[in-house]
Amino acid sequence: MKILLIGANGEIGKILKPEFAKKHEIISAGRTSGDFNVNITDVNSIEKLFQQIGKIDACICVAGDCYTGELLSLDEEKLNIGIQNKLLGQINLVLIGQKYLNDNGSFTLTSGKMGDKPVKNNSAKAIVNGGINSFILAASLELERGIRINAISPAKVADIPIHELTNAYFKSVESTVNGEIIKVNY
Ligand SMILES: NC(=O)c1ccc[n+]([C@@H]2O[C@H](COP(=O)([O-])OP(=O)(O)OC[C@H]3O[C@@H](n4cnc5c(N)ncnc54)[C@H](OP(=O)(O)O)[C@@H]3O)[C@@H](O)[C@H]2O)c1
Repeated sequence: MKILLIGANGEIGKILKPEFAKKHEIISAGRTSGDFNVNITDVNSIEKLFQQIGKIDACICVAGDCYTGELLSLDEEKLNIGIQNKLLGQINLVLIGQKYLNDNGSFTLTSGKMGDKPVKNNSAKAIVNGGINSFILAASLELERGIRINAISPAKVADIPIHELTNAYFKSVESTVNGEIIKVNY
């Protein structure tokens, strides 16, 4: 498969890239790193990326900043970091990218454990991850041409055996699951 991996140079991306590259053609992208640069907070940048790379079979996103801090420190500006970047960034990737996916292709977004099992100081992540998961449930009902969409919701990656993390992403890309929030190491 021809797979676009956004955030390939990050903590999760660096784990996924060599594993997926064993079986698939990987096109890497990031803000300042990878085969192509993209800023997922900018719809024009997303459109340009897809125009440059052409048709693909799968898009995996492991990119998206979000504010971490106590509730008292949270304000609209800090909340907007995650909303613009991790939430709307990934959603816009799907809205724009669906035109560029081959039939029966797939999107794999990344949310996180703080969406449904939050600990203190993670209200911003809880909102953003919850929004991503809800989008998956709804969008999976409407994507056309057999295109699937799932989210991987990992716990802290440093605590996860590598094969558990990679298996979750492989499951989303290579199997037929659709509309699933795949929880890893809860
Ligand atoms: N790490 C964890 O323990 C963990 C656990 C649960 C969920 N998650 C979620 O998984 C995702 C990836 O986490 P991570 O720890 O691997 O992140 P990371 O180490 O900070 O790496 C993020 C990667 O995404 C790229 N990126 C960031 N913002 C971008 C943007 N606006 N447009 C395009 N590329 C962008 C970066 O590119 P450049 O390097 O080029 O800037 C980098 O390659 C995040 O959404 C995070 O919330 C992480």
